[in-house]
Amino acid sequence: MCGIIGILGKDSVAMQLVDALKRLEYRGYDSAGVATLEGGVLTRCRAEGKLTNLEQRLGSEHLAGISGIGHTRWATHGAPTETNAHPHMNARVAVVHNGIIENFRALRAELTEAGIAIETETDTEVVAHLVAHEMDGGATPEEAVGKVLPRLEGAFALAFLFDGHDDLMIGARRGSPLAIGYGDGTMYVGSDAIALAPFTDRIAYLEDGDWAVVRRSGVRIYEESGAEVQRPVRQSQTSALLVDKGNFRHFMAKEIHEQPEVVSHTLARYLDLNAMTTRLPDDLPFDFRTLNRIAISACGTAFYAGLVAKYWFERFARLPVDIDIASEFRYREMPLEPDGLSLFVSQSGETADTLASLRYCKGEGQHIAAIVNVEESTIARESDVIFPTLAGPEIGVASTKAFTCQLAVLTALAIAAGRARGHLSEEDERKLVEALVEIPRFAAQALRLEPQIERLAKTFSHASDVLYLGRGTSYPLAMEGALKLKEISYIHAEGYAAGELKHGPIALIDETLPVVVIAPYDRIFDKTVSNMQEVAARGGRIVLMTDPKGAEAASIDALETLVLPDMPATITPIVYALPVQLLAYHVAVFMGTDVDQPRNLAKSVTVE
Ligand code: F6R
Repeated sequence: MCGIIGILGKDSVAMQLVDALKRLEYRGYDSAGVATLEGGVLTRCRAEGKLTNLEQRLGSEHLAGISGIGHTRWATHGAPTETNAHPHMNARVAVVHNGIIENFRALRAELTEAGIAIETETDTEVVAHLVAHEMDGGATPEEAVGKVLPRLEGAFALAFLFDGHDDLMIGARRGSPLAIGYGDGTMYVGSDAIALAPFTDRIAYLEDGDWAVVRRSGVRIYEESGAEVQRPVRQSQTSALLVDKGNFRHFMAKEIHEQPEVVSHTLARYLDLNAMTTRLPDDLPFDFRTLNRIAISACGTAFYAGLVAKYWFERFARLPVDIDIASEFRYREMPLEPDGLSLFVSQSGETADTLASLRYCKGEGQHIAAIVNVEESTIARESDVIFPTLAGPEIGVASTKAFTCQLAVLTALAIAAGRARGHLSEEDERKLVEALVEIPRFAAQALRLEPQIERLAKTFSHASDVLYLGRGTSYPLAMEGALKLKEISYIHAEGYAAGELKHGPIALIDETLPVVVIAPYDRIFDKTVSNMQEVAARGGRIVLMTDPKGAEAASIDALETLVLPDMPATITPIVYALPVQLLAYHVAVFMGTDVDQPRNLAKSVTVE
């Protein structure tokens, strides 16, 4: 992951770099650094830990210079120490890097053999030395970078600054994203439009393999073959305002509470509320009527959204869905039917494995559709059609509102597919749309369970493991609940299909194990009750999420019953997601973890 920024400015850049890095902190936050040219000489300042540490250090160690590069790190190679923090530099060049240089060991051996001392455990340092080595041999900075890039294997974005060259910055992209920002006598490079938003809204995205020689007067972009190319300059819509937490203690809490509103916005885009039908663009590059199956790929929470959608597509549209974790799919060599539809779900639109899966499917001649929250992202740009989620910027590392908005889009797509394929009548569609319209109201009611959930969370803090169970669309939600809990509270949790319990996990049940059962009163409720009985009989402590009918019918001595409103079965995974998220949130708050930036994680996963 990691975030990159570079500025050829008019005034002192150090604090501008830090401001941009604040906007990139979602990409990693274990160390940070900047390098500037002070009187033409490369100087740097780095700090372990969060960006505030770097900011404090820059308060006392003033760094002058109007040209600079900066980096916020998510460690891949080497511990998150100051020594391993970027920029990496020598007397000639400073470099910041996002991605992985896969052949760094061989390159390091080569440099060591040439007598060059390696100071860090990173894969990045070799890049600085290789470029400097070329320059020692007489190459210009452009020639040196041009010679080194083809030698690097892996996925990366790089930005270079050169000693003695105050009006030069070089950016390169292979795999990881990099954008060029055009200012007024100033120029920028950055991992995304969000970082560049305070400086400019005129942005060109580098294509894979591109590298750019940036000067204050403009930029020359070269593709991998070395030929000069033009990349369109777009008007970015990204806001320069930094999103704040409002009255909430954490972004995650704010984002959970925003859900009634953002899900409603998202639904409004895909529903015609006068006709009470779904509404998709007329010019879709595929036809639901002729599809034989859909292949969905995504990672983490977005994968669970896709898994819920499998139930919907298969039920409403009788359309089989193959759903894969993108990191598996990309290497699985799955046979794809000619003219098939591949659907990718991603909040950031930058997830490396999802993007690689997309490119694989494109290569196989598939139609590419994506559900993304960031409309300027790489996945959005490389898709034939996008279905945006209108969740707004999601800052908390744990995905919440993006998940429910993804589900909102997916359910609209599945209903539209059902209608197009003749498996849903006009009346069926109207009833389903009526149900979707109710989601914001039910979601707001679900949020009222928060005080009860907050009290319950205290009892979870003593648990070392938690089991989540569900059937049907509640099964992916059980897995999502477990993911949410483990990533922010660091308590081990597993999500299981309730019916699968007896095939192994039941061995875990004892009086110390909380078991969260997600069981709306639906056509398979009784089956889930049987599984709950099995848990209760072994002393497991059940937390039941259900509705009034379910609470009455369960007749189980639960540790806690969270009663949600009675609602149509289709929308339960969306509404029940809120108490599931709130439970993880309050356990984490009670345990005192860093809720918005949990350890070891980053918001946008641009490495394999
Ligand atoms: C978990 C979480 C992750 C992401 C995953 C995919 O709370 O946020 O599991 O869902 O990294 O990210 P996107 O959706 O950006 O592709």
